[in-house]
Amino acid sequence: MIRVCCGSVCCRHGSEKIFGVLEAELGGSGEAVVRKSSACFGHCADGPNVALNDNLLSGIKPFSAVEQVRAAMEDVSCKADGLGLRNIDDLDDILEHIDRI
Ligand code: FES
Repeated sequence: MIRVCCGSVCCRHGSEKIFGVLEAELGGSGEAVVRKSSACFGHCADGPNVALNDNLLSGIKPFSAVEQVRAAMEDVSCKADGLGLRNIDDLDDILEHIDRI
């Protein structure tokens, strides 16, 4: 599962285009399910951001998005749900962010 942050900051930096190329290349071939997320991932300064199985990929560029995401798909740690791989402090931050939404 690939989710592209389409929050306002990531959008200004090309996330709609990133979604388009990922959907065309990876969604169209059946390699992945690609979705837009209107909810900010909470890492605007590092964006545009993409979540691969809830693992955050930052600094994704429209012209290299497919290669960047494919490389992450080869990373064993990205094949599992990212929440299970995070330390307790990161999970606290995530829960705090959810409370603010
Ligand atoms: S808008 Fe994408 S992380 Fe905030």
